[in-house]
Amino acid sequence: MDWLYFLIVCIILFLVLQIITILRADCDLALTWIEKLGKSPDCLRDQVVWVTGASSGIGEALAVKLASVGCRLVLSARREDKLQTLKQKLIDLGYGTPENYLVLPLDLLAYDSHKKLPCDSHKGLVETVLKYFKKIDCLVNNAGRSQRAVISKTRFEVDQQMLAVNTLGPISLTKAVLPVFIQQNFGQVVVTSSVAGKFGAPGLGSYCASKHALHGWFDSLRVESVMYNINVTMACPGPVFSEALIHAFTEDPDKKLGVTMKPEEKRMSAARCAHLMAVAMANNIDEVWITGNPELSFLYMNQYLPGIFHRLAKRFAQKRLKKIMEGSNNLH
Ligand SMILES: NC(=O)c1ccc[n+]([C@@H]2O[C@H](COP(=O)([O-])OP(=O)(O)OC[C@H]3O[C@@H](n4cnc5c(N)ncnc54)[C@H](OP(=O)(O)O)[C@@H]3O)[C@@H](O)[C@H]2O)c1
Ligand SMILES: *[C@@H]1O[C@H](CO)[C@@H](O)[C@H](O)[C@H]1NC(C)=O
Repeated sequence: MDWLYFLIVCIILFLVLQIITILRADCDLALTWIEKLGKSPDCLRDQVVWVTGASSGIGEALAVKLASVGCRLVLSARREDKLQTLKQKLIDLGYGTPENYLVLPLDLLAYDSHKKLPCDSHKGLVETVLKYFKKIDCLVNNAGRSQRAVISKTRFEVDQQMLAVNTLGPISLTKAVLPVFIQQNFGQVVVTSSVAGKFGAPGLGSYCASKHALHGWFDSLRVESVMYNINVTMACPGPVFSEALIHAFTEDPDKKLGVTMKPEEKRMSAARCAHLMAVAMANNIDEVWITGNPELSFLYMNQYLPGIFHRLAKRFAQKRLKKIMEGSNNLH
C-alpha cells in the first residue's frame, strides 16, 4: 500500500511540475526539453533551405538564423528589393558568400493552375532553384497574411482571398517541390501555421479557416510521404513582432488593416520564434507550439480538455470581440 501512495504522490508531483512549466514556458513542453537536450540547429549546416515570406517578420528572422548556422538559402517573397537588402545583410554579417543566397521573387497567388494563369509560375521557380543549388533539402512555407474582422461583417471575397494566399499558395508550391523530394528520396517541409490553426478565435475567422486547412493537408502529406523520407513540421506561433498587422485582411477585400505593432505589446520577438522553429527543423518534430501564455495553456486545454476549453472560449471570446470592435489589435 505504501508503494501505491508513493506512486500516486510521484504522479501528482510530476503533473504539478508540468503545469508550472507550461505556465512559465514560451513553447510546448516537448520543444522546451528538445531545445535543451536535442540537436542544435547547427546540424542544418550546408542544407539548401527555401524560405517564403523572407522579406519581413518571422521569415526574415528565420533566414538570418539559418544563415548563421551555415545554410544555403533561397529567399522568396514579392518585394525583391527587401530580399536583396536581406541578402546583403547576411553577407555583411559574415554568413557565407553571395553564392550561398538566391533571391527568388515569388507570388504565392501565381500558382500553376489548369486555367493557365498569365503568371503560371511555381513549377518554373522550382526549376530555377534546382539549376542553381542542384538539390532542395527543405521548403519553409512561411509567407501568409493575418486578419482582423468579425465574420458577420466580412465579405466573402476576403474568405476566398485568404484561402488563396494562405492555403492554396503553400499547397501549390509544395506540390511543385514534391517531385524533387521524391526523386531525391529526402526532403523536409516546414509550415508556419499559427495558434489560430489549432482553435477558432474571434476576429480571425477566415484566417483560422486557412490555417486549420493547412494542418489537414500537410498532416496527410506527412503520413503519405514516409516511404520517401519526407518530413513535415507544423509550427504554430502565437503573437510575434512582424509586419503582419500592416498587411492583415479586414472585412473589406480592398482594405488592409495598416496597423504597426507597438514595442510594449505582449509578443515574442521574431528572432526567438525563428530560433525555436530552427530547433524544430533540426529535430524533425511533427508539430510545435511557439507561444507563451495565455495561448499555450489554451492549446493544452483544447487538446486534452476540449469540453472545458469550448465553454471557457465562449466566455473569453466576448471580451476579445469587444476589444476588436473597439479597435484594439493586441491579439495574434
Ligand atoms: N506575427 C504573428 O503574430 C504570427 C502568429 C502566428 C503565425 N504567423 C504566421 O507567420 C507567417 C509570417 O508572417 P509574419 O508575422 O512574419 O508577417 P509579415 O511580416 O507580414 O510577413 C509576411 C511575409 O509573407 C509574404 N507574403 C505575403 N503575401 C504574399 C504573396 N502573395 N506571395 C508571396 N509572399 C507573400 C510577405 O512578403 P511580400 O509582401 O514581399 O510578398 C512577407 O515576407 C504567416 O504565415 C503568418 O500567418 C504570424
Ligand atoms: C526525417 O525524420 C527522421 C526522424 O527524425 C530522420 O531519421 C530522417 O533523417 C528525417 N529525414 C529527413 C529527410 O530529414
